[in-house]
Amino acid sequence: MSEATERPCNMPKPVLFDVDNNAKRDRWKETARQSHADLVSSLSPSSKASSQGKCGADEKVQVSKDIVVTSEDGITKIVFNRPTKKNAITLQMYQDIKLALKNASTDNSAITVFTGTGDYYCSGNDLTNLIDATGEIQEVAIKTAMALREFVSCFIDFPKPLVAVVNGPAVGIAVTLLGLFDAVYASDKATFHTPFSHLGQGPEACSSYTFPKIMGSAKATEMLLFGKKLTAREAWAQGLVTEVFPESTFENEVWTRLKAYAKLSPNAMKISKELMRKNEKQNLHDVNAVECAVIPERMASEEYSNALMNFMSRKAKL
Ligand code: COA
Repeated sequence: MSEATERPCNMPKPVLFDVDNNAKRDRWKETARQSHADLVSSLSPSSKASSQGKCGADEKVQVSKDIVVTSEDGITKIVFNRPTKKNAITLQMYQDIKLALKNASTDNSAITVFTGTGDYYCSGNDLTNLIDATGEIQEVAIKTAMALREFVSCFIDFPKPLVAVVNGPAVGIAVTLLGLFDAVYASDKATFHTPFSHLGQGPEACSSYTFPKIMGSAKATEMLLFGKKLTAREAWAQGLVTEVFPESTFENEVWTRLKAYAKLSPNAMKISKELMRKNEKQNLHDVNAVECAVIPERMASEEYSNALMNFMSRKAKL
């Protein structure tokens, strides 16, 4: 079970979840509920607003301290670089990653690779995103849903081979996104954990569709509904991971292999990927829209606020 959910709360509540301010929270929840119907409609696959889910086209090149991008030997490497927070993804990092993907889609590299700095691959969405946010919860929830939808769209549409080098534990969206990657190489110390039900959340990044397709609905249920954490070898056995390497030789073996792959014909690889994926693309965008439409109601739920309070209370207990 995620540590975020297993310890009791015994600290002052974050402002957004202050239990002494129930009236305010109830009002937020009510407004969020009301806005939910509008949002579902605005996020629906058939709505005109669905173009908002497409990857932006005119952003400038930018590399941030939390997302480091390098390009060498035909490989563009996008690195989660926030090791002190186990590479948790902030809302700003969504923007940085979108930009990095947009640039990588047209640069000279043949393949694009994600990996993490330090002992974690990535611990998923930064759970303080919501607590740190200012404004009405309904507004924050809608912005979050829109940001997530655009972020995931960039992965759905990415034209080159997309590879994850999973150097350590992966949590939440760092796991669900893997269903949109073309290959996943993992160290044997990596784990794969999607504790959505512990957090009062639902699955994202099209995993409600890709995971049952990859591993069958029974195994996908254990991960997405019951939050079962998989070892790297279990994830390989379920088809989520391409190959597992011993930690001692992981970096060497994987990068040697990727450098060899990056020498293959880039255009042939793009065309092959397009052929493999094109029949699914619209479907994936539709699934993305529906998953994001659920977010506001979940963000306003008691289950979610309790899980966040438990996570925040950990430091107070130490
Ligand atoms: N969001 C925000 N902060 C996070 C984070 C996340 N997803 N994951 C880790 N961190 C922070 C911790 O709060 C801690 O910050 P601090 O040093 O300021 O106290 C720091 O990263 C190190 O994490 P810590 O919890 O001390 O390390 P650990 O090895 O004991 O536990 C995790 C690591 C990932 C198991 C634990 O931090 C955790 O459960 N995080 C939440 C993961 C999660 O639920 N993600 C969302 C999934 S939908």
